[in-house]
Amino acid sequence: MSSAYLQCIEETCRRRQDSRKDAHSCAFCGGLLEVKYDFDQFDPEQLRHAWHQRRLSGEPIDRSGVWRFRELIPFVEPGARIVSLSEGSTPLVGTRRAGWWAGPVHLTIKHQGNNPTGSFKDLGMTACITRADSRGIRMVACASTGNTSSSMAAYAARAGIKALLFVPYRQISSAKLAQALDFGALVVEVGDTFDEAFRLLREIAPELGLYLVNSINPFRIEGQKTIVAEMLEQRAWRPPDYIVVPGGNLGNASAVGKGLWELKDLGFIEKVPQVVVVQAAGANPFYQTLRAGSSELMPVEHPSTEATAIRIGHPANWKKARRVLDWTGGFCESVTDAEIFEAKTVLAEDGVGCEPASAATVAGVRKLVRAGKIERHADLVCVLTGNQLKDTEYIMRHRSEDQESHQRLRVEPDLDSLRRALERALTSPVESR
Ligand code: F0G
Repeated sequence: MSSAYLQCIEETCRRRQDSRKDAHSCAFCGGLLEVKYDFDQFDPEQLRHAWHQRRLSGEPIDRSGVWRFRELIPFVEPGARIVSLSEGSTPLVGTRRAGWWAGPVHLTIKHQGNNPTGSFKDLGMTACITRADSRGIRMVACASTGNTSSSMAAYAARAGIKALLFVPYRQISSAKLAQALDFGALVVEVGDTFDEAFRLLREIAPELGLYLVNSINPFRIEGQKTIVAEMLEQRAWRPPDYIVVPGGNLGNASAVGKGLWELKDLGFIEKVPQVVVVQAAGANPFYQTLRAGSSELMPVEHPSTEATAIRIGHPANWKKARRVLDWTGGFCESVTDAEIFEAKTVLAEDGVGCEPASAATVAGVRKLVRAGKIERHADLVCVLTGNQLKDTEYIMRHRSEDQESHQRLRVEPDLDSLRRALERALTSPVESR
């Protein structure tokens, strides 16, 4: 039997919930729920060794970067099917230019774009769809800015479960929409913002008996938290000073914090890194709320940023994320779209591609170092949440065909024209970025 149970996170409530029901919020006060465990007594040294050994195994459950750490997520009943696409096991890569540009700091990238559907959502989705499948659920649903939906569509297909998704009309990248369609999901384009689509989904969910896999689903957080175990293992269990994540619905920040806290509690680490959340300036409700010291969320009614993945004005998990910043002494920063583009460009110069929302982390670090909130030469890990190819429209908009950019030329198909064009392009100094 699993020792898992659900508990409300509200300090004034903290009530355990009926574990036979997978509710999306507390039955007593409507607060967010989290998964808690009566963990077995671990010997961290032995478990670290076992986790390491599993990397050599050919078993699908051991090859997954989530289920390799299954002792940290013991909610699966014996005999249940694990719905996995070999997620996780993503690289930790050093940077040269980006670290220099942002600080100088020791900047390492944890690249979650190397997941099966190209984003960090796969870590949570394997956990959540495994849970849904073991409960006999035959239809799952989410509202999304595009990555949750493509991930849900893939894992639901894998499990033979129907997938229903709500996305704001013409507000998500076509690559993400294409993924969901390719995996056979039913796509409903509704509303102008993620917040509107999500609100409508939550309203209609009880009527239709929908099982939601948005990050308010606490089992999503369980899968996503394993990123910290993998990252720490890759660093020989030396915690960095900071872990930096972009903030949208704030599930990821919540997951990273929960993972760190549990690893500390269980004796795997002594020092907990400070968790830093970076939001886009046009969609920064968490930043504004914290800056005002408000105990209520200060939503952004018309969120706007080119980083469409994090264009969210009413983040559902903000209370969990605030708790994480309190626990870890972390903070939140806000960066403009121009700063995001600059960071994305510098990362590309290091050969690291990502989607705009991910580059917000590096832009945030630069700003925080300049403000003296992060010390120069600090040791930090930025989580790049999505693959470069998730938003090629963004890249094409910014890397224009015009001659000014010296980067993209259209040439008549004859040798003379080619020579002339190349001579000009190869001798003129490339614009310094
Ligand atoms: N980065 C990317 C690439 C994302 O897709 C998201 C969220 C985030 C960062 C923010 O993570 O919501 O946990 O704070 N995307 C969601 C989606 C909202 O529907 O795909 P968060």
